[in-house]
Amino acid sequence: MISENMQASLNKQAADEAYASSVYLSMAMWCDGQGYEGAAKYLVNSSSEEREHMTQFLQYIVDQDGQARVPAVKEPPHEFDSLPEIMKSVLELEMSVAASIHTIVEQAWQEKDFATFNWLQSFVEEQRNAEIQARNILDRIEVIGTDATGLYEIDQMLEKLANQGEG
Ligand SMILES: [Fe+2]
Repeated sequence: MISENMQASLNKQAADEAYASSVYLSMAMWCDGQGYEGAAKYLVNSSSEEREHMTQFLQYIVDQDGQARVPAVKEPPHEFDSLPEIMKSVLELEMSVAASIHTIVEQAWQEKDFATFNWLQSFVEEQRNAEIQARNILDRIEVIGTDATGLYEIDQMLEKLANQGEG
């Protein structure tokens, strides 16, 4: 069993994951339209992963005999400045998702809801890895540079990561 407050927080997190999924999908479509097919593939992977997270949160609520609420998804941005700017936004989005998960971890601790506290740990780890990956990509963009050749190389790098199942 989970508290009403915990149920609300987990449903809100499911909505945040759904929003992240649609932001990544929108970024992917923009990238594809600009000819960055590697980046598009990488971001489609990210989008699927976030959708999977949403499902996991909803499933957890139901498993605890709670009421899962499939969220209405707020419209994502459709226009982006550049591929490097998109990758900066990815890091910001991951950091904000991490912050909201940490808030729920703290709530679980305060409520002495150790089952939820424990269940959330894989998401804490997941976010840590997502942040590392986003930072690594930004570091490499810094090295590669953002002239036309650089952008091509960035796209290739993301394609390689996507083919390794990353994103
Ligand atoms: Fe997520």
